[in-house]
Amino acid sequence: MPGSNERFLEKGPGVPADMTFLDLEDSVAPLEKESARAKVVDAIKNQDWGERVMCVRVNAWDTKWTYGDVIEVVANAGERLDEVMLPKTQSAAEVVALDLLLTQVEVNAGLSPGHIGIEAQIETTRGLINVEEICAASPRLETIVFGPADFAASMEMPVLTGGVSIAEYPGDHFHYVLSKILMAGRANGLQVIDGPFLRIRELDSLREYCNRARTLGYDGKWALNPDQVTVLNEVFSPTQEQYDRALAILAAYRQATEDERRGAVMFGDEMIDEASRKMAVKFVTRGERAGLTPGSD
Ligand code: GLV
Ligand code: MG
Repeated sequence: MPGSNERFLEKGPGVPADMTFLDLEDSVAPLEKESARAKVVDAIKNQDWGERVMCVRVNAWDTKWTYGDVIEVVANAGERLDEVMLPKTQSAAEVVALDLLLTQVEVNAGLSPGHIGIEAQIETTRGLINVEEICAASPRLETIVFGPADFAASMEMPVLTGGVSIAEYPGDHFHYVLSKILMAGRANGLQVIDGPFLRIRELDSLREYCNRARTLGYDGKWALNPDQVTVLNEVFSPTQEQYDRALAILAAYRQATEDERRGAVMFGDEMIDEASRKMAVKFVTRGERAGLTPGSD
């Protein structure tokens, strides 16, 4: 949500998203940057955001606004704020710089050290080249995010919309990028999130794009409006069938290993082992978070 737009900020709590970020970066005009900080602080403190993860996207380190954004927002609304998002992250040093600044602001604001987590956006060629070190740069890091629009610009791709398919290209032009970010994130225990789908009226195409990210292993994707949230929640939550099958795999594997002392057993027509347990756990955890309970049969 653009941090300069009070109307959007007011509507934010009604959108059923797991996480909301209030933006001080690219959706805010340069002349509004400084006044948007107070609006963001006010929205965080004075609206009921429920249990969701609250985040503010500050401006990138190559602007003049980053430190001011962090100080004003964290000092004044840090208690309810969970994370700061750093856009256009180019190097591990940029994450370390944000970590150090956050530590000082937290001390002065009476917040516990490490209270604020970091989300880093990978959306430049330099950022992608350095993504492995970026993902390991700070214990505050929680999430790594792909930014397709800025990335297309950084690559100088001949497109006018980032993050949608390119009919002339045989295959998925971002497959390598998505996989590289995912691996770097997972290797460091981070959540991995895909960025925006800009054609906000094309919900079927959004669904395809969500499936593409989900199938690779991504945890979620950004939404730009409430309709996109509905599609995202559907695609990124396991179905009842997947949830029930995952529970059955866990039960069969538990019985095999604990009662029969066997590490690999048949589950229907398939062999399952420890790797199957790990895959199943992910479905069960996500299913529980989405409010699923075991099916009736
Ligand atoms: C998001 O910030 C993007 O550039 O895609
Ligand atoms: Mg961007």
